[in-house]
Amino acid sequence: MTDFAPVLKAVVPAAGLGTRFLPATKATPKEMLPIVDKPAIQYVVEEAVAAGLSDVLMVTGRSKRSIEDHFDRAYELEEALHAKGDEERLAAVRESSDLAVMHYVRQGEPRGLGHAVYCARQHVGNEPFAVLLGDDLIDARDALLTRMIEVRQRYGGSVVALMEVEPDQVSAYGCAAIEPTGENDVVRITDLVEKPAAGEAPSNWIVIGRYICDPAVFDVLEKTPPGRAGEIQLTDALRTLTDLPPEDGGGVYGVRFRGRRYDTGNKLEYLRTVVQFAAERPDLADDFVPWLKEFVAGL
Ligand code: G1P
Repeated sequence: MTDFAPVLKAVVPAAGLGTRFLPATKATPKEMLPIVDKPAIQYVVEEAVAAGLSDVLMVTGRSKRSIEDHFDRAYELEEALHAKGDEERLAAVRESSDLAVMHYVRQGEPRGLGHAVYCARQHVGNEPFAVLLGDDLIDARDALLTRMIEVRQRYGGSVVALMEVEPDQVSAYGCAAIEPTGENDVVRITDLVEKPAAGEAPSNWIVIGRYICDPAVFDVLEKTPPGRAGEIQLTDALRTLTDLPPEDGGGVYGVRFRGRRYDTGNKLEYLRTVVQFAAERPDLADDFVPWLKEFVAGL
C-alpha cells in the first residue's frame, strides 16, 4: 500500500431527464422507479455505503425533489406506522434515511456527465472520489467498488470498471484500449473513446458506470470541450488523464468486472432486472417463481 489519500466520497449523477421511460418519468425521476419495492437509486447508495463511502453527493436537477425526500425522514408516515405497530414497514421506511450522509447539488443545465461530475468539485475538494451511475446496478454480492478502491490505493490515478461485450454493443458505451498489468483483473488504459462508431472501437471492453476519479479530473473537465452529442463527456476527461504523469494525477486503470450487472437504463433490461430481483427475494420467490414458470410455459 502506498500513501494515496483514501476514497471517502461518492458522487451520484442523477440529473438526466429519463426520456426512455416516459410517461412514467414525466413527474417522477427515473432514479425513483422501483426494482420490486425499492427505488433503483437506493441500491446505488447502498453499494457506495457497502464500499465504505457514507458521504454521498447527488447531482440532481429540476423535478428530482422526491429523491431528497426518499433519503430524508418521513415523520408523518413513521408516526402512522408506529401507531399501527407495523415495525417491519417502519424499519423499511427508516432504512433509506439512516443509510448515508446525503448531500445535493443541482446541475442547472444538462451539459453532460462530465459537467455533472464537475458540479461536485466544491463538495469533493482535493480528494479521490467514486462516481456511481444510477442506470447500472451491480449485484450486492459482487464487491466491484471495493476492488476499484483497492486498485486506486495501490496504483493511484483514476480507475474505471470494464466489462467485455459483443462487438455490436460497443457503440452504446465508452470503450477502452487496454494493456495488461501484473494483475489479472487490472489493466492500464491507453485510450478511451465515447460511443465509438461501429468498426472504430479500440476493443470490446466497455466502461460501465463505476469510476474512481483522481481530483485532477476537475481541472481537466474545466477545459474539456463538448464531445459526443455536444455534451461534456467524463470519458474525454479520463482520456486526457491517461496522458498525464502520475505526479499530476494522471494514469487510468481498469478493473475487469466479470460479475452481475443490471442495466436499468432501458425498458427491456429494467424488466429483466425486476423479474430477476423478484425471483431471488426470499419473501416473494415461493409464489412468484412458480407463477412465472407457468406464465412463460403458456406463452
Ligand atoms: C455513460 C458514459 C459511458 C458509459 C455508460 C455506462 O453513458 O458516458 O461512457 O459507458 O454511461 O453505463 P450513458 O449511458 O449515460 O449514455
